[in-house]
Amino acid sequence: MSDFVPARPHGPLQEVLPGIWFVTGTVRMAPLVTFSRAMTIVREDDRLVLINSVRLDDEGLAALDELGTVTDVIRLAGFHGMDDPFYADRYDAKVWVLPRTRYLRGFAPDKGAEPYFRAHVEVEADTELPLRGASMISLGTKPPEGLLRLDREGGVLIAGDCLQNWAEPDRYFSLVGRVMMRMMGFIRPHNLGPGWLKATKPRPEQVRALLELSFEHVLPSHGTPVIGGAKDAYRPVIEAYDG
Ligand SMILES: [Fe+2]
Repeated sequence: MSDFVPARPHGPLQEVLPGIWFVTGTVRMAPLVTFSRAMTIVREDDRLVLINSVRLDDEGLAALDELGTVTDVIRLAGFHGMDDPFYADRYDAKVWVLPRTRYLRGFAPDKGAEPYFRAHVEVEADTELPLRGASMISLGTKPPEGLLRLDREGGVLIAGDCLQNWAEPDRYFSLVGRVMMRMMGFIRPHNLGPGWLKATKPRPEQVRALLELSFEHVLPSHGTPVIGGAKDAYRPVIEAYDG
């Protein structure tokens, strides 16, 4: 277990929609640079599916175990995934990713770098996902970036790095993290992820494809849930994106 990334501070598991919980935790980019990232937990029957996994501390894991049994982990963001091996090991969970997703350290890994983990399933268009009424949307960028749409509550879109909602820095930001992320344009509600845009340079039509999806709610990996009216809230920034 000691090879896994340690648990870092996080908040409570909050049920934001029926059968869907959201928990905000910490990512540490450098010794003085931390900011928040969030995990979504979806329950179906007594199974739990973790999306955008964030390692919880012992108390958090106990709260998670109260909700059901973790069976699957779905990775969406091209630059996340560091806690997937922990959950795969602890629960013998199956890890699902888009094809060509790799587990490599850093934002610009060396060519030929050895992955630190391998997912169990690469999700193709006809792959049956471990949640009923769920679909995986690929934005066609490199590295792959996905969203998970749940056909419930008018459409729930769970996002990795592409759709964010950091209206304000939260308690998981260090002082340097606050200054840095504000300067880099991350601190805005209903935002396209600035780091993701810079790293993957999506074409405008790849971003605009989001508006073809039907959704009412967005559960981002960075920021707070957007409950109700999410598509209209994100429409201006999506339409304004010109590459
Ligand atoms: Fe991220």
